[in-house]
Amino acid sequence: MNPGYDPSEDEKEATLRPRYLSEFQGQERIKDNLLIFIRAARERAEALDHLFLMGPPGLGKTTLALVVASEMGVDFKPTSAPAIEKPKDLAGILTNLRPNAVLFIDEIHRLKPAIEEMLYIAMEDFELDWVIGQGPAARTVRIPLPPFTLVGATTKAGMVSAPLSSRFGISLRFDYYSAEELERVVRRSSRILDIKIDEDAVKLLAGTSRGTPRIANRLLRRMRDFAQVKGAGVITKDIVIDGLARLEVDFLGLERLDREILKAIILRFGGGPVGAETLAVSVSESVESLEDYYEPYLIQIGMLARTPRGRIVTPAAYRHLGLEQMNENG
Ligand SMILES: Nc1ncnc2c1ncn2[C@@H]1O[C@H](COP(=O)(O)OP(=O)(O)OP(=O)(O)O)[C@@H](O)[C@H]1O
Ligand SMILES: [Mg+2]
Repeated sequence: MNPGYDPSEDEKEATLRPRYLSEFQGQERIKDNLLIFIRAARERAEALDHLFLMGPPGLGKTTLALVVASEMGVDFKPTSAPAIEKPKDLAGILTNLRPNAVLFIDEIHRLKPAIEEMLYIAMEDFELDWVIGQGPAARTVRIPLPPFTLVGATTKAGMVSAPLSSRFGISLRFDYYSAEELERVVRRSSRILDIKIDEDAVKLLAGTSRGTPRIANRLLRRMRDFAQVKGAGVITKDIVIDGLARLEVDFLGLERLDREILKAIILRFGGGPVGAETLAVSVSESVESLEDYYEPYLIQIGMLARTPRGRIVTPAAYRHLGLEQMNENG
């Protein structure tokens, strides 16, 4: 769970969520390859190979899983690793899949070891090992499963075990979206929601959305509110400038907490290195949202670096915050 994420907003966003690859903006490299794999699997009337999706929150992992199911013309069964508590939970899901269905497991790095081992056999052989009875009388039966495509998603690729990640035939890593790609997201969402927005406002919003479609859509909806109440119903550049200031988002798209993280490292820890736990406590955030949500973008834009001894800020961070960098020699 990350601070940029409010599930009720994604529900409202159901209309904005792309259903087909043609509506999925950006990530061209991913789409190019997928299109070929999907076509090949469809021509053979087979399930698509298992698909592993990695990347920061809000970049479209869940969306792409859904798109894959629509493009394949198969059932979509979403679940998440923490929801699969017992082997019988997974057995229930797997035995009830329609042939070639997409089984989407979110947060796949959180699978319990026993469940993960069951999944290995299911992925490889489309079979389940099921233990009947107890003690010396116990025996294992193999239950055949319908062929399916497992789509596993994670924000923490490093926490997925090698045996699991190696069983995915296709691995795709999401990058942050370029400003131009986000402009397309904003234009598409404005069209669907019937929002009037000026072209220079589109550019400004795209540039302050942290490379993330979820944030672009969220900012767009807030700007619509400001335009409606404080403006003439049209999102103009001025509305966006004023709106971003109200939301404490700066011209790089950094949020208040991004700036607090950088400031804490500079002012309290002499620019670093500082460990993630210490840093998280000092800005009252969870280590998880620090590592999954805040740091990746700060690293991407070159304000923060991870070293073996901890996090350090870069000269760009001092400049952005308007702080003097102390010289090593005083
Ligand atoms: N390529 C895209 N084109 C247009 N809109 C997109 C795209 N990717 C994502 N979105 C929009 O952003 C929202 C968030 O995407 P999604 O829920 O798929 O992210 P996620 O990677 O699964 O995030 P999390 O890690 O938090 O689960 C979607 O509801 C969708 O409307
Ligand atoms: Mg998701």
